Amino acid sequence: METIIYTISGNDKRDIFCRRDSEALQKAGEIIRSGGLVAFPTETVYGLGANAFNPQAALKIYEAKGRPADNPLIVHVLNPKDAENIAYVPDIYYTLAEKFMPGPFTVIMEKKSVIPYEVTAKLDSVAVRCPQNPTARKLIELSQVPIAAPSANISGKPSPTSAAHVIDDMNGRVDMIIDGGECTFGLESTVVKIDGDRVILLRPGTVTPEMITEQTGIEVVISKAVKEELAKNEVPLSPGMKHKHYSPKAKFSLVSGSDENIISFFTEKLNKNKNCCALCCEDESEKLQQYKGRIIILGKSKDDVGENSKRLFAALREADKTGADEIYASLPSSDGDSLALYNRMIRASAHTVIDV
Ligand code: TXA
Ligand code: MG
Repeated sequence: METIIYTISGNDKRDIFCRRDSEALQKAGEIIRSGGLVAFPTETVYGLGANAFNPQAALKIYEAKGRPADNPLIVHVLNPKDAENIAYVPDIYYTLAEKFMPGPFTVIMEKKSVIPYEVTAKLDSVAVRCPQNPTARKLIELSQVPIAAPSANISGKPSPTSAAHVIDDMNGRVDMIIDGGECTFGLESTVVKIDGDRVILLRPGTVTPEMITEQTGIEVVISKAVKEELAKNEVPLSPGMKHKHYSPKAKFSLVSGSDENIISFFTEKLNKNKNCCALCCEDESEKLQQYKGRIIILGKSKDDVGENSKRLFAALREADKTGADEIYASLPSSDGDSLALYNRMIRASAHTVIDV
């Protein structure tokens, strides 16, 4: 299949589109409406979108990604109220939506019958997200249907945070790729499931449990799979949590210990193996200058959680491109706003942590 690649002019913060952009987005909307696939930018990661009312279109997503059939898709709507078209919406949803939507936040509720089981992987619930990225919003508006969209990567690989990543994975497999530049946050949305008057956190993201409770008074229960490895026979609340995920081709391991010990460990590994890469913050990389080319930079320091999160998936892909067979990075904190980064790194490494 020939994939149309279109680059949005200007940056993704604007919500006024020039005529050329509007026409391209109009075309993208028509592709979605008529059952095709369009990859598009969001503030979290790039999504691979299809008409959420069309079961055949949803199945095309699974095929293009090589996605396991039991992993449900998130449905993207323009405004929080649009959730009512596709889900039975309890009041607590509006308390959450008022604070966190549009934004990097997804809520799971009981689905209405208009959403086919092909979208929800046979579940009776549907995940609803209302993105804030202007290009994503314009696409939903012009499609005139809700858009089912997982991250636009081949299943198991790191999620795409730039159009180049999407092109690497999806060129020839989808009808159109819209290039809207780099994603603002770089990690996927926070996913919560409503459970009476509290919510269960299924996937951590930029909206933290602390933010939810502070801003809405709603209690958040963190599901086990967020921090811990599930036993083989345990069933996670979110099917995606059990699948191998975010993995680079190389063996990826995390290192825990004092800053000094971590640098010595990196030095030893980089010396021993020419095909070894380290993901480092700028302050760590100062001490590893002689390994330039095999040091992939995240943020300024471990405290720079925003930049470290934004860069993680791109860094894993860059490390793979060096031909590395081993990648090391230091284990981030699992507290506060670092929980999402911790969750992605621990899963990308298949829970491989080396104490030094
Ligand atoms: O930021 C994001 O959420 C991005 C952008 C494109 O919006 N999308 C994304 O989708 O990350 P995906 O498919 O890569 O991850 C969706 C996660 C999976 O872990 C899936 O199992 C879970 O949400 N999920 C979706 N629907 C669910 C449901 N009904 N019940 C439980 N978990 C659900
Ligand atoms: Mg994904």
